[in-house]
Amino acid sequence: MPVITQSPDLDNALVNPANWADENWVHEQFSWMRANEPLKYLSPEGFDPFWNVTRYADIKAIEGNKAVFINDPRPTLGQKMMTEVLQQMTGRKHLVRSLVQMDDPDHMRYRRLTQGWFMGSNLRNLQQRIDELAVHYVDRMGEMGGECDFVKDVAIWFPLRVIMSIFGVPEEDEPLMLKLTQELFGSTDPDVARSFDMMDFMDVVLDFEKYFVELTEARRNKPTDDLASLIANSEIDGERLPQHETNGYYMIIATAGHDTTSASTAGGLLALLERPEEMAKLRADVDGLLPTAIDEMIRWVSPVRHFMRTATEDCDIGGQTIRQGESAILWYPSANRDESVFDAPFDFRVDRKDAKQIAFGFGAHVCLGQHLARMEMASLYRALLNRVEDIELAGEPQYTQSTFVGGLKTLPIRYRMK
Ligand code: HEM
Repeated sequence: MPVITQSPDLDNALVNPANWADENWVHEQFSWMRANEPLKYLSPEGFDPFWNVTRYADIKAIEGNKAVFINDPRPTLGQKMMTEVLQQMTGRKHLVRSLVQMDDPDHMRYRRLTQGWFMGSNLRNLQQRIDELAVHYVDRMGEMGGECDFVKDVAIWFPLRVIMSIFGVPEEDEPLMLKLTQELFGSTDPDVARSFDMMDFMDVVLDFEKYFVELTEARRNKPTDDLASLIANSEIDGERLPQHETNGYYMIIATAGHDTTSASTAGGLLALLERPEEMAKLRADVDGLLPTAIDEMIRWVSPVRHFMRTATEDCDIGGQTIRQGESAILWYPSANRDESVFDAPFDFRVDRKDAKQIAFGFGAHVCLGQHLARMEMASLYRALLNRVEDIELAGEPQYTQSTFVGGLKTLPIRYRMK
């Protein structure tokens, strides 16, 4: 991608969710920033200022230093007004308290409770079920008669079903979970937001909480072997988790696990459709190339656009001093196109092996579901490439307007089943 001139008023433009629906604009701006102002203190209107971190090495240095860079009080970008209203109404800094709002010692203690669920033998036990679900959703493409919206008909439903069945939410409640997740992550996109009113946004969280309070009750009264039971009945220092933290835990598992994976799955397909030579390479060696192809899709999409950290003491990063109390925003899509790390970063290569993508973050908070996400995507692509051929674009893809979690919201395709 050529380095172009800086967009006028970049500080404000960068935090405007509408601009994030244009992937080219986003990457052009980040290319310019990496080359000219890789680490700059920005003060967009309506937001507290922050260091704008665009390089891979700087993000890794910040995330790797959890003693200095903490998540609380500012794990993500929020408008100043929203934070103030929340504080006045609830007396709390955050709508929920989940792993991403925590630092040690709480973070370590809470993360340990579920970490085993997302690793090793437990994941291997899920493989067969995940493969069956992947085949089921690809079969549904067959039933749709050769045309579908890959995002709305396949990519969002498959990871949702996987995470909800691990979690223990019944299938009939999945549309509700999907709606609430999209209203939460898409709160800045007119197509998905409940409205742009702060009260409506808070109602989304209250709707989640209402559902989760009932779920906690049910699992405490009658534990099963699902993840919701584990969280509802877990103890720290001999005490059950407080309701606010239980809700936060449920909410991050119920939301973080599917929009991200579906965005990577759909964005990966679009990248392949636009590059028939990469599609042909992958089809010629599906088992051999899937692991690198999946990581390349995740690098390419980087569906989590940012997280933030705040310095507890002065610290030198990338030639600048981040002062105690100052926050830094970590832009993963930019780090994943960093030309000092990736060879030809704007090439999509299913056999890329040159560097490890950083879309799952790094350090103590590195994505808990990263192995599950890779496993789900590999299952779906195995089923898809096995059963479907001659896939082509059948309309204009569209992206969500969000500076936090986002990706394709529609991907019309035409195809022929084998
Ligand atoms: C391609 C899919 C996914 C991407 C790109 C992604 C990305 C991320 C990122 C960037 C973070 C923050 C890391 C940091 O602060 O260093 C994160 C945290 C997290 N993710 Fe994912 N994620 C994905 C899928 C999943 C799945 C399937 C789950 C399953 C439940 C999940 C659960 C979580 C949780 C619980 C955290 C919080 C971890 C903590 O703060 O300790 N994610 N993810």
